[in-house]
Amino acid sequence: MSASDPAGAAAGAPAVAIEQLRKSYGPITALDGASISVDTGEIFGLVGPNGAGKTTLIKAICGILKPDSGSVSVLGLDAARERHAVRRRLGYMPQTPALYEDLSPRENLVFFGRGFRTSGLSDRIRDVLEFVELWERRDDPLHNFSGGMKQRASLACALLRDPELLILDEPTAGVDPTLKQNFWRRFRELKERGRTIFVTTNMMDEALHCDRVAVIRAGSVLITETPEAIRARGRTRVTLGLRDGSLREQEVLAYEEEMPRLLAAYGLSDEVARISVRRPSLEDVVLGMIAGDAGAGEKPAHGGAHGGAHGGRTTGAHPGAGADAEDGGNV
Ligand SMILES: Nc1ncnc2c1ncn2[C@@H]1O[C@H](COP(=O)(O)OP(=O)(O)OP(=O)(O)O)[C@@H](O)[C@H]1O
Ligand SMILES: [Mg+2]
Repeated sequence: MSASDPAGAAAGAPAVAIEQLRKSYGPITALDGASISVDTGEIFGLVGPNGAGKTTLIKAICGILKPDSGSVSVLGLDAARERHAVRRRLGYMPQTPALYEDLSPRENLVFFGRGFRTSGLSDRIRDVLEFVELWERRDDPLHNFSGGMKQRASLACALLRDPELLILDEPTAGVDPTLKQNFWRRFRELKERGRTIFVTTNMMDEALHCDRVAVIRAGSVLITETPEAIRARGRTRVTLGLRDGSLREQEVLAYEEEMPRLLAAYGLSDEVARISVRRPSLEDVVLGMIAGDAGAGEKPAHGGAHGGAHGGRTTGAHPGAGADAEDGGNV
């Protein structure tokens, strides 16, 4: 079976299809009817604050956790009933590396590879350790590694069997910016080789690398869209500085279309001395959604379980952010 021709997944079928997933831990509702569909061959990002339910959802995909209700289909298989078959076909990188600290990366990989009866194990180990740039350190015990190096060793484990689906739970948490860039370059390489990547993050600069992003809050998916489409839901603030020194501020959706009408009111006369446009960043919009005052109510939200349900006007603005601010913060 090759990754570009995954058995069990009909052509065009989603790699992961989650419907109305619910999970409670006693009084805590971790997942509250979450629905998500991940296309084969895409990099799909799940974004949300601490405790939003990202890891719980990932555990349900990997068949580690039994949901209270709802369905999880992975590569055409039922994640709960066929979890062993699912686990053989996906690579999972947990939020906290689950590696043996007294063993070297190579020994850890031998251990995991034998457990899954990986063929051509020695060659695969070399491939993945070179991929994460740890080949030189292959025989050092993990307890001598930095946090970022342990993350790389954990990614190597997830990649070992060259899985068609990679499930990565905050893979770049705590790693430096250069290493982070390397990770994302490698994720894109994997996508180009036909793999599907499901990744959680709460860093907005990372969400921009994804083909599509789902925003999760309190166990519910608020929206699933491309990063640019999510950003376009925010309001753009246009400030006109008039010759008499006064300012005219307006907030508009779809500013490309709104700008001509807005400026027409002034006849583009000499009266207008200065125009400043402040487009919201992806972070602004996502923070607005998480705070519950998203522009998602302004246009119907497609794809999310609760699409369009979060009405109310928004400024789409996050205090302190500059024009076209970099999407670099946490949610
Ligand atoms: N084993 C557990 N027992 C009790 N509550 C749990 C358990 N696992 C998760 N929870 C709760 O479920 C909710 C969702 O947790 P989850 O780990 O899925 O969040 P997360 O989005 O991954 O957060 P983070 O960004 O901090 O990793 C939280 O309120 C958490 O306290
Ligand atoms: Mg988590």
